[in-house]
Amino acid sequence: MAADLSPIDKAKFAAARRAVDYVEDGMRVGLGTGSTAAWMVRCLGERVREEDLRITGVPTSSRTADLARQMGITVVGLDEAKWLDLTIDGADEFDANLNLIKGGGGALLQEKIVATASDQMIVIADAAKEVVTLGAFPLPIEVVPFGWQTTKALVEETLVSLDVLGRSTSLRLNGQQPFVTDEGNYIVDLHLSRIGNPRQLALILNQIPGVVENGLFIDICDIVIIGQGDGRVELRDINQGTVEQGRIDFVESDNIFADLGE
Ligand code: A5P
Repeated sequence: MAADLSPIDKAKFAAARRAVDYVEDGMRVGLGTGSTAAWMVRCLGERVREEDLRITGVPTSSRTADLARQMGITVVGLDEAKWLDLTIDGADEFDANLNLIKGGGGALLQEKIVATASDQMIVIADAAKEVVTLGAFPLPIEVVPFGWQTTKALVEETLVSLDVLGRSTSLRLNGQQPFVTDEGNYIVDLHLSRIGNPRQLALILNQIPGVVENGLFIDICDIVIIGQGDGRVELRDINQGTVEQGRIDFVESDNIFADLGE
């Protein structure tokens, strides 16, 4: 029930609830991955059921696909949808330019492909995700398993000449084994502490053979919706240059609060 949620979950829920207002009948919607995006999928499912909304969802992970189906959302692949009206996703960090670090949940590759194939990307987040400079959250990169140690070493070597504070890297694990993405790749987390030039870093990392994609989302996000534990939401639109305040009421809904989290 809503009353039992932690302030952080309430904040995530508030941002998610406000974001689904952007979804209109007939839209093709990219569905992000992570705990905040899971709230969005629940909220969207509620609108689908209650308003008989006809939308098509394109999930960014197998986890999100499972949840979306459970919530009664029609799910198709990106190639079937071709182009999306809107993608709503969470983020690990965002800055004043709405550049992001994503991939904490390991789904950065599909997330970036889906967001890039959308007219608009809305990021939903709690206030703790806002940073002055990206990089405190480890930057994930997706690498192919073949030669991953060599790729990791090459990444470390490349970082030496770049404007970052830390340069250590670690293979993401799932227990004792490497974490494996939906595409069958590994994730290497870069512990940079501070990224001086995110745009340059994103370009350079993707030049390294073996690196499939990195978790820096540059000039992709259009709107961020920041939720607070008391239901307040702030919308920042980078294209319009507008900031809007609002409030979400925590109305009990068995469907949404029945099975929580990811
Ligand atoms: C998934 O790969 C990530 O990009 C998530 O969107 C990001 O980690 C945010 O997740 P939470 O909403 O769980 O914090």
